[in-house]
Amino acid sequence: MDFHSGVNQGVAPVTYGQGERPPRGDYAQARSDYTCEQQWQRYTAAEHDLYRRLYERQAAQLNGLACEEFIAAVKHLGAPERIPRFDALSEALHRATRWEVVAVPGLIPEEAFFALLAARRFPVTNWIRTPEEFDYVVEPDVFHDLFGHVPLLFNPVFADYMQAYGEGGLKASRLAACEYLARLYWYTVEFGLIATPAGLRAYGAGILSSAGELRHSVTSALPRRRPFELERIMRTRYKIDDYQATYFVIDSFEQLFDATRPDFAPIYARVAGMPEFEADDSRDQTASNTSG
Ligand code: PHE
Ligand code: FE
Repeated sequence: MDFHSGVNQGVAPVTYGQGERPPRGDYAQARSDYTCEQQWQRYTAAEHDLYRRLYERQAAQLNGLACEEFIAAVKHLGAPERIPRFDALSEALHRATRWEVVAVPGLIPEEAFFALLAARRFPVTNWIRTPEEFDYVVEPDVFHDLFGHVPLLFNPVFADYMQAYGEGGLKASRLAACEYLARLYWYTVEFGLIATPAGLRAYGAGILSSAGELRHSVTSALPRRRPFELERIMRTRYKIDDYQATYFVIDSFEQLFDATRPDFAPIYARVAGMPEFEADDSRDQTASNTSG
């Protein structure tokens, strides 16, 4: 089966992390572009209640830790009591930034993901974690995808960045450079921090949807925090099963957008010939560079 084409063949394309458990979405019901129906009527009262508890726990700790753009936009998700209907959310989002949210059964191949972003369609997993996964879920679920990602899509600059990222992804897959671009996504869209006049704040979805990492990323003395630097990010590995060892800090969404505007083709070529950094590396240069 050819997963690189990014066309749904009816089965889960990827497994996440080291677990043997297969992804739980129903890929057989999804369209060729991996989008599917949300099937909102299928959520049980217990699932809506789990969403409410996740939402309330995160909402209670946003002040002083999440960036203002996120806090201002989180209300667009609607009432916290139940899992939002994607179609109603899409109407509001489209009015704001011409984006929409579309349901997917779970993780999808890179090319399918990039194609949706390039079309200003944000894929949101339609299922919610189990109650046992209240504190930690290894695959993204509807709570991570909605609460973590959708509010900033209401911000015009960030919304344009996400579309540019999708277009850049389609190009990166032609250049076999997806690994470098995935690191950019990880260290910005998922785990980015932003320096604001009021102090350090989180804007990355992986942080904003995490009960523990939100405070850890902003206030703990343990992780390294480095100023945003495109090539450093492309060369830095990341962990998917623990709090990040390094966070990259932007000054503004405009800075992020401007820094990613240049043609990445020569940057990929340069980075491909350079050593990588481990996630917890504090050095400014790799040993092979300094000794060479
Ligand atoms: N400028 C990048 C390229 O040429 C595209 C891109 C834009 C990537 C924004 C990420 C974010 O590939
Ligand atoms: Fe995510």
